[in-house]
Amino acid sequence: MAPLIEGDEVIGFLALGPKPFDNPYFSDDADLLATLANQSSVAIRNAQTHQRVVQLNEELQTILSTIESGVVAVGAKARITLFNRTAERLIGMATISAKGQRVEDLPPALARCLGGTLADGEPRSQVEFSLPDSAGQLVPLVCSTSALVTPSGQLVGAVAAVNDISHLKDLEHEKRRTERLASIEAIAAGLVHEIRNPLVAVKTFSQLLPTKYHDPEFRETFSRTAGREIRRIDDLLTRFRTLVAASSQSLESVDITDPIRHTVDFLRPQFDERQIRVRQVWDGVPRSILGNPAQLEQLFLNLCLNAMEAMGAGGELTLRVADLTEGGGTTLLVEVSDTGTGIPEELLAKIFDPFVSTKARGSGLGLAICRGVADAHRASLRARNNSERPGSTFTIEFPVPIAAPSPTTAT
Ligand SMILES: Nc1ncnc2c1ncn2[C@@H]1O[C@H](COP(=O)(O)OP(=O)(O)OP(=O)(O)O)[C@@H](O)[C@H]1O
Ligand SMILES: [Mg+2]
Repeated sequence: MAPLIEGDEVIGFLALGPKPFDNPYFSDDADLLATLANQSSVAIRNAQTHQRVVQLNEELQTILSTIESGVVAVGAKARITLFNRTAERLIGMATISAKGQRVEDLPPALARCLGGTLADGEPRSQVEFSLPDSAGQLVPLVCSTSALVTPSGQLVGAVAAVNDISHLKDLEHEKRRTERLASIEAIAAGLVHEIRNPLVAVKTFSQLLPTKYHDPEFRETFSRTAGREIRRIDDLLTRFRTLVAASSQSLESVDITDPIRHTVDFLRPQFDERQIRVRQVWDGVPRSILGNPAQLEQLFLNLCLNAMEAMGAGGELTLRVADLTEGGGTTLLVEVSDTGTGIPEELLAKIFDPFVSTKARGSGLGLAICRGVADAHRASLRARNNSERPGSTFTIEFPVPIAAPSPTTAT
């Protein structure tokens, strides 16, 4: 009898019966039996390992074919090695034909993410893009990638998980719609208030007109006041139209530094008069976004005017443009920072609502227009008070359009 040993464990025995003709066993036979037992242990272990690998592979295939994320993996030579059933549905390429294709053959946005991770080993996180479904309807998708690295640290490929976010987008849309409806009430109340005040002034004067018509001083005051109050209503309606029109304007490729520079040039005389120093901080590289130049100038004009009004005389206005490289560098950051009074804490949560103003003759539409423009650009606009110096900072984060895939690693 010879034991079959695997590690510290006995996994079986080789048992021998008597030799023919009652011949005895010699030590050579025992050696042969021991060698045979050894070889058998190895063979059994290999068979078990193989079975486990097959089983694991089957489990993996089942998981990959049932999960709701599209999974695409590429090898070090930038060829697709894995493409699950959901990827087939979301990306619109058949699994069979996708395997072995080059990363560049994937839709551009996905190719850029996967190719990027394969080139630099860095993950890409939550990159949004859209692809048409089988009916030609655009489906919003989000993709995250990570590098496939061996235990010794060698980069051997990259994997992307792609998810359908239509449901999230619908919720977001619904939320915005509800917020819009809620704000209509506030807007109506604000408009009534803003228009009624100048109208009351005009009405009061016009009621006095029949009796005081021959008083030249009255006539002079009347024409001055009526003109001023009517201009006020007119200005208000013009700005209000900008607020409403923001979402329906067309977008084109714009270097974001252009509208910023135009705004600063336009306000330069007022900055000089108030001795406000303006710092424009960015390198010379053009930063393109999809935008509407006239609206963007409105946005920066309102922010700069507010900054100027908050600083009075003296102070420093800083305009900064930078790429946000976190999460794959898909965001462009613009900061407008002043050294003025800062925003009263209790006002911070509502300064973007229309008709919120602390100024004697402010309409409170400036920041509401800014928010409308930001929404139309799918940008996020935030305000905060500076922590280490006086004043406040407004931040706008624009999504950067995804360009065609850059050449990736050699195939
Ligand atoms: N840079 C800033 N520093 C301090 N407070 C600010 C700043 N920007 C805005 N605010 C506050 O937010 C309020 C709303 O600003 P918004 O631009 O919407 O209206 P406004 O400037 O009062 O009037 P309008 O822009 O219509 O002339 C301001 O009245 C002010 O209290
Ligand atoms: Mg303003």
